[in-house]
This record gives sequence, C-alpha cells and structure tokens, in this order.
Amino acid sequence: MEIKDLIISRAKELKIDLKPCEIDWVYNNLLGLLTPTMRGRIIKTAFGETTLLHPLYGEPYHSLTAGIISECDNKFIIPSEILQKAKARKELSILEIGFGLGFCLARAINLIRSVNPSVELKLISIDIELPSIFPPSPPMISKEHSKIISLIPRFLKDGIDFSLILEDARRVLSKIELEFDAVFHHGFSPLRNPELWTKDILSLIAKRLKPDGVWTSFTSSLAVRKALLEIGLSVQSVSSVGRKSPSTKAGFGIPQILSPLELERLQRSSFATPLKDPELRWQREEILIDYLIRVMAQGGLEPPTPRFSAGCSTN
Ligand SMILES: C[S@@+](CC[C@H](N)C(=O)[O-])C[C@H]1O[C@@H](n2cnc3c(N)ncnc32)[C@H](O)[C@@H]1O
Repeated sequence: MEIKDLIISRAKELKIDLKPCEIDWVYNNLLGLLTPTMRGRIIKTAFGETTLLHPLYGEPYHSLTAGIISECDNKFIIPSEILQKAKARKELSILEIGFGLGFCLARAINLIRSVNPSVELKLISIDIELPSIFPPSPPMISKEHSKIISLIPRFLKDGIDFSLILEDARRVLSKIELEFDAVFHHGFSPLRNPELWTKDILSLIAKRLKPDGVWTSFTSSLAVRKALLEIGLSVQSVSSVGRKSPSTKAGFGIPQILSPLELERLQRSSFATPLKDPELRWQREEILIDYLIRVMAQGGLEPPTPRFSAGCSTN
C-alpha cells in the first residue's frame, strides 16, 4: 500500500477526518523521520573516540558531543544508582536494551568493579543484530570490552554471568523472568527507532524492574516520558551532558523530579502522547503514522498553536 493510503486508512481506524493538507503534514513528517540525517559508517566523537553510524536510522551509536565514556557514565550508569548498590550488595543485575558495540556495558563492568571487585553480576543485553564491524573501544575499557567480545553470546567468568540475546527486543522481553536493579535503555532516538520506545514495550520493561530498580536513558522525549508516567513510574530529569536537553531516569521507588516547565509540557504539548505498538510487531512506519495522526489531531505543533497551523488552515 502507498504511504498516503496507509495514512488515510489509519486515520479512518482512529476516526479522525483528515484534510489533504493534514495528510501532507503527516506524510512530510514521516519522510523526514525515515530519512537518515547522517551517512557513513565510522565516525569520531568530539573526544576522538570511534563509534559507528547506523545505516538505517542514520544516527551514531553514541553521542558525538558528549563522547562515549561520558555518555555511558552520566546518562546511564551513574543515574541508575548501580554504583551505590554495588558498594552495599553481593549481587547486581542489569538489563541492557541495545548492546550495540558493547561499549556501555564494558564501561558499567569497569566502574562497578572499581567500587566492588567481587560483586556478582548478572547481565542480560538484547540487540536485534550485531554490527558488521567493531571499531576500537576507548582505551579505558579495552580490557572489559575485549573480554565481552571474545566470549559473546554467553559467558560465566570472573563473577559475571553474561548473556547477549540477538533478537528483536519486542519478542524477547516477555520471556525474561528475572527482575533487574537497573535497565539501560539505549536504542536510537525515539522517533527514528520507535519500535523500542512505545508504551507497550516500556510496559514490558517496567515489569522487569525490581521495586527499587532504576531505568535510565539518554532521551528526554515527551512521548517516552508520558508513557513512563502512564505506566506508573516516577520520572526524573537528569542533568544534561553534551547537549541542552536532559536525559531521563524512572522507577517505582524513586521520587518524581521534573521542573514546572517540564510538567507543563507533559500536560499540554500534543507531542506528549505515547507511541503505540499494541501487538508489538508494527513496522516503524505504522508506529509513526499512528503517532503523527494523533499528534496532529491534538494540535500538531507546540501549544498553544491550534490544530492544522502547519500550513493547513481551519477556515
Ligand atoms: C545506540 S545503539 C546502542 C549502543 C550500545 N549500548 C553501545 O554502548 O555500543 C542502539 C542499538 O539498538 C539496537 N536496536 C534497535 N532496534 C532494536 C530492536 N527492535 N530490538 C533490539 N535492539 C534494537 C540497534 O541494533 C543498536 O545496536
């Protein structure tokens, strides 16, 4: 089916009448999201570290401005509170969504071992595929990274029980029974890799969190934060690194910390509507079409812009 026909048919299912200019609004936004913004394969961060660009999503595996180590530390590992827990516990468990190059997991092992050399680690990482090449890891984590890469997909060694599951995370999460102290949610940005950020997959992930477990991610997406809140998690903004927007942590047992402006945007912005994937098998085009139609029906652009203001008069 042509993309415009898909838009019209989804709008009918949602019982939303679309004018031709509204169909164009959804179509143009969709094309923008499906077109990679960067092309190439190997790329350097501002700190000279080497990472990859994903050919489909057109985004780097790590923040080019924050750098690999700083991003892993400040957006995932430190906010997850896993280092405090490592000091006090004999066992820790981490679930990672998006193994990628394995750099953040190697950094997590490296930092946890620096605060408690003997804590037992249960690590499960999920990725839909491994990249065709692995650029050199940052020297600081080369020992941990080479160990992981030489032993994947599974090893039990030096107090680490590690499994890499190579499958779509949407197929895997309901089969995992363990509850985790921390979930590191990587993935590319929510509107480019929406399969990993719907309320439906976030609900499955939330079920895998211990009552005091913490979910961390680089994103500050309104769609993602709204979904986390609707699922019943408390949400906190985490200070930004390498860019203006903060990142996010969430959990059932942490206090909610959002600024008045962030709360207002979550209440009023039409973009603060969760992405949906009810059967956990929609294509990314389907997830985005459904989302963009619902966003447009609530106003399209940021409030207080009225509906159809994106070049689409209501008169
Ligand atoms: C930003 S990268 C992860 C970076 C990684 N943590 C590291 O330190 O190298 C995002 C990863 O999410 C994976 N991914 C995207 N969609 C997925 C899906 N539906 N299921 C599982 N993994 C997925 C991609 O293959 C990619 O490796």
